[in-house]
Amino acid sequence: MSNITLQDRVFSPYLHQAEIAQRTDSLAQALTEVYAQQFPLLLVVLKGAFRFAADLVARLDFPLEVEFIRLASYENSQSSGQIRTVLGLEDRLSLEDRPILIVEDIVDTGLTLDFLYAQLQARQAHQLATVSLLFKPDNFRGEHPPAYFGFSIPPAFVVGYGLDYQGQGRQLNDIFREKPSAEV
Ligand code: XMP
Ligand code: MG
Repeated sequence: MSNITLQDRVFSPYLHQAEIAQRTDSLAQALTEVYAQQFPLLLVVLKGAFRFAADLVARLDFPLEVEFIRLASYENSQSSGQIRTVLGLEDRLSLEDRPILIVEDIVDTGLTLDFLYAQLQARQAHQLATVSLLFKPDNFRGEHPPAYFGFSIPPAFVVGYGLDYQGQGRQLNDIFREKPSAEV
């Protein structure tokens, strides 16, 4: 695999699709043990999680429902901490008395998850957990760490497999990491 350039940035290969698939298998197994009898609602956070979510549910062979929400929090590659709902959950959807599993591409500062938890708790959702493909523990300063995650990664910016830089790179099948500017 070679480096890729998106806009003004250079990214190098980081997580190969085979590794991602293998970790997704393990996550699906762990989730099956916990949720197989519970009819969970999977709440996919768009846009970044769309590929991980599709590959994850393909491995979950038990009754579940899937809904989507879209939050916006990011300007360029810096987490702004300012989050807004772009596409929300329908009002008719009852969130009480059922397990809800949030599906994320990446948990960075955790501020997006804090915002989402507050919104869901305001609608009486109390059985909440998160599965995220990626987790950046060094940046995390939130209240709700993901109960399940695929890879713990250092704070570098990553793209591919649903994750974007300024809208680009979501179609890449592997995950790439931004090179520090000294290395470019
Ligand atoms: P927080 O900081 O609220 O951020 O946990 C979560 C959201 O920020 C985006 N994010 C990234 N997007 N590469 C990306 O393409 C990254 O390295 C990255 N780090 C954070 C993402 O939208 C995530 O849901
Ligand atoms: Mg996201």
